[in-house]
Amino acid sequence: MSKICVLGQGYIGLPTALLLANNGHEVVGIDVNKRVVDSLKAGKMPFEEKGFQELLDGAIAKKAFRAESLVEEADAFMVAVPTPFDPELRMADLKYVVSACEMIVPHLRRGNLVIIESTIPPNTCEKKIKQILEKSTLKMCEDFYVSHCPERAIPGNTLHEMVYNDRVIGGINEESTRLTADLYSSFVKGDLHLTTSTTAEMIKLMENTFRDVNIALANEFAQIADDYGIDVWKAIEIANKHPRVNILKPGPGVGGHCIAIDPWFLTENANNSSLIMMSRQINDSMPQYVLKMVKEMLAGIENPTVTVFGVAYKGDIADTRATPAKKFIKLAEKEGYRVKIYDPFVKEWCYSILGLEEAVEGSDCIVVLTDHSEFREMSPEKFGGKMKKLNIIDTRNIINIALWKESRYIIKTIGNCFGQ
Ligand SMILES: NC(=O)c1ccc[n+]([C@@H]2O[C@H](COP(=O)([O-])OP(=O)(O)OC[C@H]3O[C@@H](n4cnc5c(N)ncnc54)[C@H](O)[C@@H]3O)[C@@H](O)[C@H]2O)c1
Repeated sequence: MSKICVLGQGYIGLPTALLLANNGHEVVGIDVNKRVVDSLKAGKMPFEEKGFQELLDGAIAKKAFRAESLVEEADAFMVAVPTPFDPELRMADLKYVVSACEMIVPHLRRGNLVIIESTIPPNTCEKKIKQILEKSTLKMCEDFYVSHCPERAIPGNTLHEMVYNDRVIGGINEESTRLTADLYSSFVKGDLHLTTSTTAEMIKLMENTFRDVNIALANEFAQIADDYGIDVWKAIEIANKHPRVNILKPGPGVGGHCIAIDPWFLTENANNSSLIMMSRQINDSMPQYVLKMVKEMLAGIENPTVTVFGVAYKGDIADTRATPAKKFIKLAEKEGYRVKIYDPFVKEWCYSILGLEEAVEGSDCIVVLTDHSEFREMSPEKFGGKMKKLNIIDTRNIINIALWKESRYIIKTIGNCFGQ
């Protein structure tokens, strides 16, 4: 058993801390947010996800977990704090990682291990983390060990994925890798892939960049399909029957705090990354493409109202971080449209979220931006004759077309503009 301080008790740090606590370690969960610490001290999860509360109850019952605001001496430190994107510099903003490492410095002892779980650009452990931790006067590799162990879990299924996904473990030297692998093997049932810290930093960013570039290609295919008047969704489905082809889905853009951001962490110090940057541009331009579709559909209507269905960046969650819906709404408002919003998951946002009936009342067009399950089987019968004009644009290709056709809606889909 070892004592571990986990800095950052958010979506990643807290479940990791609880898994360690439930698997034989003494864990102190550290957070600078008093609300988070107070909630954990009271035995309550500060946010909800399947299985989290039970894990917290189990860790507390074992007396293996407590939450604190201040770092203390331990055998290992884990950093799982945010790494936001600096939109002006198009680089990772490492201020939280820097401050977390600075909080560790006074407590760093010979033989300690420091694991960075936060997503970071290549070379961060070798350069920045080393520089901060060596302020302790101890030497990296000789006195203390560092590794990067990026997280791949998906929100909504975090616990299962944290246990069963394969993990990449990249140490600054072999001893760092070995110590980190020992720690993770206490709860990870997937394979542990051992490598160097810089390679691990690169792998995490490559995984999300691969998805971003693939989605950009799908978005480009969708626009070409619109030019030719064919159905890109059918075309992708059949192309993916090829044993070595896997094209992802087109859509209104890419959101969330990983796929839309991580490619920039990879390119910030790279000499040649034109494909990655071009893909970012394509995905970032999709809200404009959706607006173009809306404008064509609503040509001739004065002061149109559009209803956005879904502002979460992906289906069946309430997460709106970096959602492309925000850009679409801003562009539509700039165009002079009145925009009303319905999202069954998001309750509070920078724009007001309305009830379904209020959102469609007097609307000229519904624009489906998120693949929430509710929209898949929704029938326009549900809100009767509240719409002013019967138009719907489905950017996710999820609506039940037969139901909307029955109600005489004009339907358009990205990548299948003429095919309905
Ligand atoms: N959430 C995901 O699905 C996911 C997946 C893969 C990777 N990641 C990466 O994991 C890292 C953490 O993400 P998250 O979603 O858990 O973030 P989060 O915003 O949910 O939680 C981060 C927590 O860190 C705390 N914090 C900030 N500075 C601190 C400090 N100096 N000391 C202690 N606590 C501090 C904040 O108060 C917050 O509670 C990020 O780098 C993210 O990119 C997240």
